[in-house]
Amino acid sequence: MKPEHVALLRQALPYINRFKGKVFVIKLGGEVARTPEQLAAFCEQVALLWQVGIRVVLVHGGGPQATEMAERLGIKTRTVDGRRITDDETLDVAKMVFAGKINVEMLSVLRRYGVAAVGLSGVDGDLIEAARRPPVQVGRKVVDYGHVGDIQKVDPGLIHTLLGGGFLPVISSLGADADGNIYNINADTVAARVAAAMGAEKLVLASNVDGVLEGETLRSRIKIDELEGLIGAGTIRGGMQPKVSEAAEALRGGVVSAHILNGMKPDTLLLEVFTDDGCGTMIAR
Ligand SMILES: Nc1ncnc2c1ncn2[C@@H]1O[C@H](COP(=O)(O)OP(=O)(O)OP(=O)(O)O)[C@@H](O)[C@H]1O
Ligand SMILES: [Mg+2]
Repeated sequence: MKPEHVALLRQALPYINRFKGKVFVIKLGGEVARTPEQLAAFCEQVALLWQVGIRVVLVHGGGPQATEMAERLGIKTRTVDGRRITDDETLDVAKMVFAGKINVEMLSVLRRYGVAAVGLSGVDGDLIEAARRPPVQVGRKVVDYGHVGDIQKVDPGLIHTLLGGGFLPVISSLGADADGNIYNINADTVAARVAAAMGAEKLVLASNVDGVLEGETLRSRIKIDELEGLIGAGTIRGGMQPKVSEAAEALRGGVVSAHILNGMKPDTLLLEVFTDDGCGTMIAR
């Protein structure tokens, strides 16, 4: 080991002391789980956090993988303004891909790094209670997104039980209502609400961009009060908008800090957690 590596380890020590036993809810974007190499590189970092005593809860969706599978099955994906419509067939694909393929692949990678992980969706143990999103006005059109759910309630009981038993929960972004209807839910939203319900120390959203960009510039820190302005000005849009809005809600709900980072680049999770400068965007109250 080179001296600079030892220095890095020493720099991590106060963070390890501070975060040991705390809950981190970490969400991986679809792109991060797309290739086995990418997924392995990310899960290795998760395993390190876990092994130093951080109670990690993983959340994932899998938009790109669902689209791929739909194509293989000859199912057309309908989108309005870049947003997927979840019709009956698309919901079936979401169930198979989110709660099936991606989830079990993540468990096996974690197992390889010595972490006993348990896969579940928001339907298990009444974790996520959702309601069908009412049709929304988009410009002149009224758009019905189909089986897309908004979260009504989170019951983290099962997650506490798993963590208490030494298991790392891996949650896919589905939810259900009391009548047994299953819904596709934005994974950023699931992660943020679970983080708030658990009083998590950190909410980490790992995506395919370095963080919140203002033009070309990466914002390494943003205060909650700045977010509305950035959204209003169109600086934050698309898939970044639910991330920052949900992160802000989670912070108001008691989560200590929220981080958006690039899960496609090596070591970003560890850098963000264990170094003074970090590498992505930190949102704080
Ligand atoms: N100000 C901004 N800074 C950074 N990214 C932005 C900004 N505004 C919009 N974006 C877009 O948001 C995208 C990230 O959201 P996206 O929903 O695509 O990814 P994800 O949430 O990680 O994945 P998934 O939706 O599959 O879980 C970026 O790739 C970028 O195109
Ligand atoms: Mg997204």
